Amino acid sequence: MDASDGRRLSVSLVDVTRGREAEFLAVSRHFEALVISKEYGRAEMIQDEGHPLRFYAVRYWTDARAAERCHRDPEVQALTATLYQIARVTHVVNGVRGSDAMRQLIDERRARIEADRRAGFDRRVKNVGRPASDRRTARDRRLGPRRVRDRDGEVDLIGAARRAREHADAAFSHFKVGAAIETGDGAVVTGCNIENATYGLTICAERVAIYKALSEGHRVFTRIAIVADTDAPTPPCGACRQILWEFGGNLEILLANLEEEKGHHALKDLLPLPFDARLL
Ligand code: THU
Repeated sequence: MDASDGRRLSVSLVDVTRGREAEFLAVSRHFEALVISKEYGRAEMIQDEGHPLRFYAVRYWTDARAAERCHRDPEVQALTATLYQIARVTHVVNGVRGSDAMRQLIDERRARIEADRRAGFDRRVKNVGRPASDRRTARDRRLGPRRVRDRDGEVDLIGAARRAREHADAAFSHFKVGAAIETGDGAVVTGCNIENATYGLTICAERVAIYKALSEGHRVFTRIAIVADTDAPTPPCGACRQILWEFGGNLEILLANLEEEKGHHALKDLLPLPFDARLL
């Protein structure tokens, strides 16, 4: 895409929930029509030949401002909310960086992290968590059951964790857990707990999520959502806290069940006086 004509491109990976294909196609057709009629640009949904449930959502924006208008459009937001109920969306290319508050926060956080890449743990030395002034407060903190986005540009991490939980293999404990971790560039990687006959080799949802993300090359993380079907929240176990700390730093931890958010914490509060590579 030639930057000189102001045109921008965004690409997202869309994994559709099995059985929801028809709804998904209707939503994407609606979105494509909307993007054209409101002159935001053009949208295209390309199916992956190898995976019938995987699509690439490509948006060719007229210019960066059109992309912004599109993101703020309530009709588009309603469609996006529906999409997040029926698919897992991972942003691959964001051609319109800049004005989004969350994006700025992430970029700023990355800049601080990337100031010194010699050691993998400098992000854990500095407190790179969301500043107190940027925390959700009172009314904003409430999460209704159908509320999908906390604000523009912030993905439905809890929804992704709920969907991941459905894949949990918990034949022994019957305690299914889902997790979804957000990376510094806005991608979402999910995990679920996987048990086995020796019991001891069980791996928690959180570690599956972060190991998957690390194995795909992600090294910067912002938040993780953890979901179980219990009234009391399910905080990460000690082993997961350690791994999350070492690879994710002071993550924001969102705890939820199938209906609502149950609380959020900074990892440093769940793991005070941590051991990590600085102490070796
Ligand atoms: N489990 C998780 O996946 N994450 C947690 O935060 C707590 C526990 C799993 C491990 C095991 O498969 C089951 O839940 C019961 O402990």
